[in-house]
Amino acid sequence: MRILLLTHAFNGLTQRLGAELQERGHEVSIEFDIADSVAEEAVALFRPHIVVAPYLRRAIPESIWSRYVCLVVHPGIIGDRGPSALDWAIQRGEVEWGVTVLQAEAALDAGPVWASAVFSMRSARKSSLYRNEVTQAATSAVLQAVERFAAGDFKPTPLAEFNDVHGSQHPPMRQADRAIDWQHDDTATVLRKINAADGFPGVADTLFGVACHIFDAWPEAVLRGAPDARPGDLLARRETAVLRRTADGAVWIGHVKRVGEFKLPVALAFAAESIALADAPLTGWWRSDSETWQDIAYEESGGVGFLHFEFYNGAMSTSQCERLRSALAWAKQRPVQVLVLMGGADFWSNGIHLNVIEVASLGDGSAADESWSNINAMNDLACELIESGGQITVAALAGNAGAGGCFLARAADLVWAREGVILNPHYRNMGNLHGSEYWTYLLPRRVGADAAQAIMRNRQPLTAQRAAASGFIDACLAGDVQAFRIDVARRAVEIAAASDLAAQLAAKRERRARDEAEKPLAAYREEELAHMRRNFYGFDPSYHVARHHFVTKSPASWTPRHLARHRDLGWRVPA
Ligand code: COA
Repeated sequence: MRILLLTHAFNGLTQRLGAELQERGHEVSIEFDIADSVAEEAVALFRPHIVVAPYLRRAIPESIWSRYVCLVVHPGIIGDRGPSALDWAIQRGEVEWGVTVLQAEAALDAGPVWASAVFSMRSARKSSLYRNEVTQAATSAVLQAVERFAAGDFKPTPLAEFNDVHGSQHPPMRQADRAIDWQHDDTATVLRKINAADGFPGVADTLFGVACHIFDAWPEAVLRGAPDARPGDLLARRETAVLRRTADGAVWIGHVKRVGEFKLPVALAFAAESIALADAPLTGWWRSDSETWQDIAYEESGGVGFLHFEFYNGAMSTSQCERLRSALAWAKQRPVQVLVLMGGADFWSNGIHLNVIEVASLGDGSAADESWSNINAMNDLACELIESGGQITVAALAGNAGAGGCFLARAADLVWAREGVILNPHYRNMGNLHGSEYWTYLLPRRVGADAAQAIMRNRQPLTAQRAAASGFIDACLAGDVQAFRIDVARRAVEIAAASDLAAQLAAKRERRARDEAEKPLAAYREEELAHMRRNFYGFDPSYHVARHHFVTKSPASWTPRHLARHRDLGWRVPA
């Protein structure tokens, strides 16, 4: 079938659905929901059999839903209605939630149901639930709904015909519903409120007396500040985050958006203010015994070292890359012969930190200089990983990876991804960036020169299965997060215990030496950086413009041509 994805943005769920539908032989094209007339033009050009709307912020026009079956993904259980479905579910402390695929009609979220799926709720931020449980449930429900549509004889069930409906209509959640009462709210309540608003819109609050929206909260089990500290007081800082007293404990706050600005690490958005707080560093890289905020954490078991890096949104600034490189260099000195880089729960890595780069352009600094420092720090980190002759290294992707993050993963000997993970191993969407991270060394030797070029040129997301089939990654493992972790640990321990491990390591060192003799890593880096220098400092400002729009979240004004296939020159509806 021809399936048009009508969506507000090409977000993770839309990428996953597009890829899964294509893998099932459907012809998929994408149009951003910019205006009724644009959507009408898209259906006129593409003449879809069906429209799927994974992520919309406004209603589909009647001119479309009255002529085409439009399947809308609603992140709520059957009967739930309203635009803040997940926000309310988190705040109410629901234990089970779901996704419903409804047919668009005049009343929002009230059309007949084509399919639905449920999942157990986790104590996590909204964006994390969306990227994991919601995306998984939406994918299975949409695939089922599309199958039912293709079968031709399925009648969707009107809401009124369901017996045991638990969902109901809820208004949009306002900031008043989200507000934290620092004097009375305990840690669990503060976490629930910030989680329900993360990554958008955040909780409106104040920090250092300045109005802002706060994000990215973590519990603290031990630190309570001075004996006279009161609820709401800022107690300490650590790297990019600050610690704030609650009614019964304390929480770390990692990110903030000041009015009229964009999301930044707290220690950067409030640089002068946070430096005045007491520093509460963690010593070394070992995972802390008690609950706290720790962005880089190392643990060992079964002769394997596991390095976790939980960087918000997978974005890695210069200092984060430098710290991670130090942690990796330290881990390489441990008596382990297998090292697994676990990344974070939602993202493994999305490359250089575009927000931190953008803010550099606002003061006396330069975005070009910060981009240069950041890409060099990423390259140093990638180099540390490539040059690890004493260990078999594994990148274990529980979450998605994009741009330089994919090639940082590929710098490991083995890349294993959880089923459901989406990879975007290309750079050009960011203003035609050439990219570095030694991709010109790492990619062709995995997939061949032609496929490498095609991946870079086509700029399409890859599912973990496709990535494994193409050779870009080594294995696609279990889709369930817990099962993935267990599988990763089991496989890593097996490698560590293998009788031929010494021979494997010797072969790895030999291969590296051969490659180095043929063309040194430094030469790949210099060639890539020559392009990047032009991207950052050259006369073509595309990268700076694209980054600015990405960071400030400018609404899309057209659908990129590589997504809107129906707008390709010469595209025709097959006879
Ligand atoms: N720097 C800073 N923030 C980043 C980031 C980066 N490199 N990559 C993603 N983010 C942020 C997004 O702004 C968004 O922020 P939010 O919390 O305010 O919503 C969040 O991470 C999630 O990103 P989103 O784009 O919504 O996720 P997705 O799953 O839909 O798409 C990507 C994933 C990787 C395709 C997309 O985020 C992307 O293109 N990122 C930029 C990658 C890049 O060009 N890196 C630089 C070159 S190495």
